[in-house]
Amino acid sequence: MIPFGDPSASYQGHKSEIDQAIKRVLDSGWYVLGTEVDAFEKEFASFHGKDYHAVGVANGTDAISLCLRGLGLGIGDDIITPSHTAVATVAGIEQAGCTPVFADIDPNTRCIAPKSIEERLGTNTRAIMPVHIYGQPAEMHRILEIANGHNLQVIEDCSQAHGAEIKGQKVGTFADISAFSCYPTKNLGGTGDGGIILCQSKEFAEMIKSLRQYGWNEERESIIPGFNSRLDELQAAILRVKLQHLADDNAKRRVIALRYNEAFKGFPITLPAISETELHAMHLYVIEFDRRNELMKYLRSHQIGASLHYPLAVHQHAAYAKRIRGWENLPVTEEFYQRNLTLPMYPELSNDAVEHIISMVQNWFREKN
Ligand SMILES: Cc1ncc(COP(=O)(O)O)c(C=O)c1O
Repeated sequence: MIPFGDPSASYQGHKSEIDQAIKRVLDSGWYVLGTEVDAFEKEFASFHGKDYHAVGVANGTDAISLCLRGLGLGIGDDIITPSHTAVATVAGIEQAGCTPVFADIDPNTRCIAPKSIEERLGTNTRAIMPVHIYGQPAEMHRILEIANGHNLQVIEDCSQAHGAEIKGQKVGTFADISAFSCYPTKNLGGTGDGGIILCQSKEFAEMIKSLRQYGWNEERESIIPGFNSRLDELQAAILRVKLQHLADDNAKRRVIALRYNEAFKGFPITLPAISETELHAMHLYVIEFDRRNELMKYLRSHQIGASLHYPLAVHQHAAYAKRIRGWENLPVTEEFYQRNLTLPMYPELSNDAVEHIISMVQNWFREKN
């Protein structure tokens, strides 16, 4: 089966550098929050520009909840976010004690729709959390305008969009604070859990560093109630290697996406919009098609790992159903969930595999129509 993503291919692709990094950590005898984490944080921050700070944490869900806690948000504070996201976005918001409110998505970007954000504003709204879904940047300029007009915080969930850009500016740098997951399947993924927060304020970064470790100061006295959300040295060392290849790896994803888009343009399927002014991180390649279940079954029977990402919007999961405000009015999200289908996408996907996938999609249209 050609998988939809392949973390082991990423390891094989950078094997000697990763093996060296692992050995360096094992030999060092220091395994959690050490020089590798420090170096990864500095390198990740400078990847985004000279005025940034970064703080490594245990996973992307914690990155979201620590951003909110660091801002002093919690019980009674509404955060507007899309239901079309990983459950983790909403879990992170609730983990901080905040109240998620769902806005609909834009059919073109599949990211949160600014107009829908405006419809959801209320007296308890404190922040907007856009998600750059599948690597597609959300409409940050419009979102920041709304936030500035209503005195709201913005926290970008960049977990699927490491390295994506809008007009040359990287996602994660539009808001003052951003959260990233470094789970193995992500564009910047380790071999275990990991996450990182990017911010512009040194003081905010210092506070997150304290929160991630029991609220300690440098003398290991807990000065605020904190958590354990530490990043380990092995993940940081591996992520440092991956960060050096991120731009190239994202470029390889975009070449594959353009090839798919070119090959599929005559078919009655909606393709990911690839804009000329944005750099799409192409985390996942997701099409929309009325008969997606039939096409998925056919591709799977031919060893192509077409799949549903995600099978349900967050408001359709039992744990969240009918309890998150905004759920009754998400028509674009609901239609998207009846039609989305993910095709294999990762930097190491070979040309032969890409051409095979394309020809099988073409065969299906020839045979079934
Ligand atoms: C959009 C989004 N937000 C947050 C997360 C949370 O990341 P993690 O699984 O590292 O907690 C993920 C990853 O699954 C994600 O895709």
